[in-house]
Amino acid sequence: MSKWLPTSDPFYLSGTALFAFASLYVVQRAIQTRAPKRHGSIPPRQERILVIGASSGLGRSVAKQYAARGARVCIVARRAEQLSVLAQECGQRCIWVAADFCKADDMVRLRERLLTEWGGLDTLHVCAGVSAVQPVMNLAGVKRGEENDASAAGIQRAVDITTAATQGNVYGPLVTAVTFIPMLIRTSTSPSMLLVSSVAAVVPAPTRAIYAATKASSLLLFQSLAIEHPGITFTFILPATIQGNFRASAVDADTESREAGPNQQGLKPDYVANRCVDAVDRQVKGSVVMPWFPYAIAHHLYYIWPGFIEQKARKKYGFT
Ligand SMILES: NC(=O)c1ccc[n+]([C@@H]2O[C@H](COP(=O)([O-])OP(=O)(O)OC[C@H]3O[C@@H](n4cnc5c(N)ncnc54)[C@H](OP(=O)(O)O)[C@@H]3O)[C@@H](O)[C@H]2O)c1
Repeated sequence: MSKWLPTSDPFYLSGTALFAFASLYVVQRAIQTRAPKRHGSIPPRQERILVIGASSGLGRSVAKQYAARGARVCIVARRAEQLSVLAQECGQRCIWVAADFCKADDMVRLRERLLTEWGGLDTLHVCAGVSAVQPVMNLAGVKRGEENDASAAGIQRAVDITTAATQGNVYGPLVTAVTFIPMLIRTSTSPSMLLVSSVAAVVPAPTRAIYAATKASSLLLFQSLAIEHPGITFTFILPATIQGNFRASAVDADTESREAGPNQQGLKPDYVANRCVDAVDRQVKGSVVMPWFPYAIAHHLYYIWPGFIEQKARKKYGFT
């Protein structure tokens, strides 16, 4: 043990880490609060915003908040009916395009429409995503406590479900980024990209393995893109559970999850949407974890005391 570290006691180490992170957070918030608003270079009514995944939930709230301040908003998702209703609510400056963000042809068609309508793009919110809610071994037909070996068909099923989650949480953000990065740089005075990731991407949890793995993958993809493209401000939003119907669209949903009804617990979509819009306005770079307590701490604590986080997560998800 180094003479600089008086003890290896995990309580001492985590206490010190907590203090250090809390101090860092206060400094970071102070800098962000004072950061100049992007409105100086792009007045709100002139901003051209694309929201991918706007037919429900968080993306819908983001679109409505931009429309309420008079911006030009393009809303995108696969369900045309929901989009047309939202477009009416958002008013005349809103356009909608039914498209699948995993499909290159759909995204190129969308890009051409934006070039024709607006001549470019300033802000891109990637809100679309899919959930996955079962323990990994369940996907392969292995029940907890039984520990029978998975069959080839069971293993393949786990692969197929992971492929579907990868489509929705990795390929979609990838296709979107590759389609729009040059256009953002070329046509905006202050280009901005926001990815809605998840706390699950940085804090492991049981029953969330496939979801977490795919959300972590797109988070790292975008974090690396941020380094490759310093001309664009990249923001990553990492929320905990949000109220709404996200579980119903799970790629591994069983009848119970499909019929469970909206989740009433968690963060309100309007609150998270407001944080997304504000983070882009303030040109916040990097990750915004919400709620900060306990998840930003849990994220870092996992590296020094994984057993503590594992125990808490098992308890929370009834995995004891
Ligand atoms: N809900 C939570 O507890 C929670 C927590 C943390 C992070 N998040 C993240 O927050 C984001 C929004 O979740 P939400 O709660 O608002 O869920 P949601 O209500 O299910 O919204 C998901 C949106 O994504 C769209 N979408 C999905 N696949 C698409 C595709 N292939 N192409 C185009 N659009 C697609 C859906 O539209 P269509 O079906 O019409 O295409 C829908 O508009 C997701 O990225 C999720 O990972 C959610």
